[in-house]
Amino acid sequence: MCGAFVSPSSSILIIPRKLQFLTPSNRSFKIKPPRYTSVVNQNHSNRWSLQGMTALVTGGTRGIGRAIVEELAGHGAIIHTCARNESELNSCLKGWLDEGLKITGSVCDVSSPHDREKLMDDVSCVFDGKLYILVNNVGTNIRKPMVDLTAEEFSTLMSTNFESVFHMCQLAYPMLKASRTGSVVFTSSVSAFVSLKSMTLQGATKGAINQLTKNLACEWAKDNIRSNAVAPWYIKTSMVEQVLSNKEYVEEVLHCTPLGRLGDPNEVASLVAFLCMPASSYITGQIICVDGGMSVNGFYPRDG
Ligand SMILES: NC(=O)c1ccc[n+]([C@@H]2O[C@H](COP(=O)([O-])OP(=O)(O)OC[C@H]3O[C@@H](n4cnc5c(N)ncnc54)[C@H](OP(=O)(O)O)[C@@H]3O)[C@@H](O)[C@H]2O)c1
Repeated sequence: MCGAFVSPSSSILIIPRKLQFLTPSNRSFKIKPPRYTSVVNQNHSNRWSLQGMTALVTGGTRGIGRAIVEELAGHGAIIHTCARNESELNSCLKGWLDEGLKITGSVCDVSSPHDREKLMDDVSCVFDGKLYILVNNVGTNIRKPMVDLTAEEFSTLMSTNFESVFHMCQLAYPMLKASRTGSVVFTSSVSAFVSLKSMTLQGATKGAINQLTKNLACEWAKDNIRSNAVAPWYIKTSMVEQVLSNKEYVEEVLHCTPLGRLGDPNEVASLVAFLCMPASSYITGQIICVDGGMSVNGFYPRDG
């Protein structure tokens, strides 16, 4: 029996009898497996489609995660997402249901091992044990000089940003393998490539994600599971709202960004969708920056 879901038809959580539409035999939508497992001989529309693929996207109620959920769903994927805030999750699920999108969700704090296990039980139940796409999107930040970080803050950053994705991959592996054509995408950051002020530990967690991306690409290639990461610079989301409310700070950000603007969550989501499609079937182990050129910027005075 499926367990802890938030039902779009109800603001009440975790009550299986209210969630019959989510159970494998009774859900209101049927999961039809994609018609292919390899890119060879696929026609153009199949290569650029996620039709019928099941996907778990963590942190899908706001920002980059939400854009990824909507982008993947727009390409035909069937999504399960999660977040900590139950009412925000319910409101998103209701909105998506009204738009006819196939999206379900669970309340889950990815920094909790118990919650992660519960989430994966839910995913297995909703998707009949087959997962094509895992997007490890949740991450957090605590901006401080490294000597000022407390042991508790260290633990929060490590468990939310790295331990969670490591464990999530372990838990998802049997389902990704069962799909026979899995794709894992991590949300890294440019902080894993260049030094950013007061982000030493956050950058280290993203650096660890980058190496995990590469190792999984090799370790899981035998199962036809690809592993890639996207690494954004400043993207307009609630996470960076506060720091971007400082006009002088934004000026500095724009100054070191060749394209001269902040990014939009959709500009990350489109790359994630591509990395999940058969069109990218020979791409694995890559970390791609979505940064307006920030990470390759050298010395270009403003007046030329
Ligand atoms: N925005 C940027 O400029 C930027 C740049 C580089 C990298 N990134 C990376 O992009 C990813 C997404 O960031 P964002 O800017 O989109 O963040 P955001 O706007 O703050 O959204 C975060 C989403 O994740 C959920 N979430 C947060 N902590 C969670 C937890 N412990 N367990 C479950 N769900 C959780 C939030 O819902 P609840 O609060 O309800 O849990 C929300 O849905 C992060 O990994 C971040 O490091 C962002």
